[in-house]
Amino acid sequence: MIDKKWLELGFIDEPVPENTDIKAEIRRMCKEKNAVIMAHYYTEGEVQDLADFVGDSLALAQKAAATDADIIVMCGVHFMGETNKILCPEKTVLVPDLNASCSLAESCPADEFEQFVKAHPDHTVISYVNTTAATKAVTDVVVTSSNAKQIVDSFPKDTPMIFGPDQNLGGYINSLTDRNMLLWNGACHVHEKFSIERIMQLKKEHPNAKILAHPECKAPVARIADKVGSTAALLKFSIADEAQEFIVATESGILHEMQKGAPHKTFIPAPPDDSTCACNECNFMKLINLRKLYNCLKYEWPTVEVDLEVAKKAIRPINKMLEISKQLGL
Ligand code: 13P
Ligand code: SF4
Repeated sequence: MIDKKWLELGFIDEPVPENTDIKAEIRRMCKEKNAVIMAHYYTEGEVQDLADFVGDSLALAQKAAATDADIIVMCGVHFMGETNKILCPEKTVLVPDLNASCSLAESCPADEFEQFVKAHPDHTVISYVNTTAATKAVTDVVVTSSNAKQIVDSFPKDTPMIFGPDQNLGGYINSLTDRNMLLWNGACHVHEKFSIERIMQLKKEHPNAKILAHPECKAPVARIADKVGSTAALLKFSIADEAQEFIVATESGILHEMQKGAPHKTFIPAPPDDSTCACNECNFMKLINLRKLYNCLKYEWPTVEVDLEVAKKAIRPINKMLEISKQLGL
């Protein structure tokens, strides 16, 4: 029985018993309970290091669909846990802190999005994976930043389309595919804060540095970038490219894997427009820490639950994304 105070908090904040090797204990519980830990690149480095699998949102969904573990611990934000639960309804899906939301998902309330969809009945509805299960339920195909261009391209050029919720990613895909999809006006509080002026200033100080940007950034930042892509694509590029310095315009957690993959290279986090804040950190992703991970495995809580009717509708656009991605070899 979970104490009422933890139910109210949305995570278990119990102290770890003295002299516990927390990392060893987490791994031991995973083995005992047949649990798998998945982590997104934006979580704390020590969480990523302990995970069985670290990836971008597409790879995390693909891994969840294929796992034979009984418990999936999703070290990431809530919509990622929901996607896992929808794909694996018979498994226990845990997110160590239920407060780990996402500003993009929050910017697209399902009822308002449904009204928008109903107002354009002839449109195919494309939703970014950063949405709640209820928003996915009124969607035709889900996409991630890894496959959005290819999936949009898989529809005939004259198909009328809605893209939500990220207007920056949607605008970027419109420009790549020469389309005019109707955009929902959502944005990510981290990616829309990068300052083009401050990135240009950094570029002056590091003229050989290449600029890497996530497509959730505003158009001027994406325009000056040498590489625009998902977290996995930026990571791959930063390791393979001959450049020795990179200015990284996405959440700073990705620098952990970049630095591990190319220890001799220099990675400079792009600055936000307000130098007094740590706005290039996703405060939701950073809610996940080792203590919460330890407690959630120990108590098998907090679980992620999705209403069955919603899940029944949301599974279709998620599976459609996985099928098209498979066909395209993504
Ligand atoms: P990726 O799909 O690149 O992992 O991005 C997820 C995300 O939340 C970006 O802010
Ligand atoms: Fe959501 Fe932005 Fe955090 Fe990604 S970085 S999880 S889009 S709030």
